[in-house]
Amino acid sequence: MLAGRDFLNISDLDGVELESILDGASQLKLALKNGHPQYLLSGSTLAMIFEKPSLRTRATFEAGMTQLGGHAIDLAQEHLQIGVRETIEDVGRNLCRWVDAIMARVFDHSMLDRLAESSSVPVINGLSDQSHPCQIIADLMTLRERKGSLAGVKLAYVGDGNNVANSLLAAAPRLGFTMVCACPGGYEPDGGLLTQAGNSGAGVLVEDPVDAVTDADAVYTDTWVSMGQETETEERLALFRPYQVNAKVMAAAKPDAIFMHCLPAHRGQEVTDDIIDGPQSAVFDQAENRLHAQKSLLVHLIRGGEAFNELA
Ligand code: CP
Ligand code: NVA
Repeated sequence: MLAGRDFLNISDLDGVELESILDGASQLKLALKNGHPQYLLSGSTLAMIFEKPSLRTRATFEAGMTQLGGHAIDLAQEHLQIGVRETIEDVGRNLCRWVDAIMARVFDHSMLDRLAESSSVPVINGLSDQSHPCQIIADLMTLRERKGSLAGVKLAYVGDGNNVANSLLAAAPRLGFTMVCACPGGYEPDGGLLTQAGNSGAGVLVEDPVDAVTDADAVYTDTWVSMGQETETEERLALFRPYQVNAKVMAAAKPDAIFMHCLPAHRGQEVTDDIIDGPQSAVFDQAENRLHAQKSLLVHLIRGGEAFNELA
């Protein structure tokens, strides 16, 4: 039962629960395309907290709540000033008296833990320094659509072992795909997640991007400078240069491999124009699927999977 639970990391859900989110997402996507009503969260409200900028996360959570018959409030940080005007705990204790779920994008992951502990409604991680699980449920949906199934898929991740890489790595052993990461020394994904995925053969670390990408079904990269790391920009751009996904790197993957990126992209840095704009790119499917996957997540956490029985 997912109703009432938090979603702070991929590891909060097991494989069956993740599949259930993906199944619900596909149902909602189809219902939307067919113009069928889907007011599963009529009267529900989502509070959104953003300590960092966003396009996709803000737009998809707000549009998603509207499509489900509910409402989203963007608690602009200049007014909210979480942790400054009011403690994190007091914000959590207030919000849960009014809303049905809280989504927060934060610098420090511990803020999410503190919000979750202090509020009785589900708290959803809209990106932290450690993880980006909402992105990954959309990515899993995209991979499943493009490859038919996740089991046996080889995903190569090239570049910074950041929040996105961590959440992908957490998903691999749960859903039966393999993630091969090529990251420079000192910029690998979380050690615990690497060990966990490595133990079941679902996670492998290599040095050379072409080695990682060889025979891959999907090639994933992300920015070399995540939000909050701007002071490291110069050294990061120099260090990650050999990890660019370009035509030479993509050529090592399977001919039908897809290119993936959570966006925003930095063209000419982690990916070249010809790849992100080329026929193998799935980046706008990923962006679209943020909407469907998060709608399914919201319905599961606010009402539970049974609510899907009401879909026409
Ligand atoms: N991928 C993603 O989370 O995009 P935003 O930063 O625009 O929300
Ligand atoms: N790793 C990036 C993802 C942006 C959606 C960041 O944290 O800035």
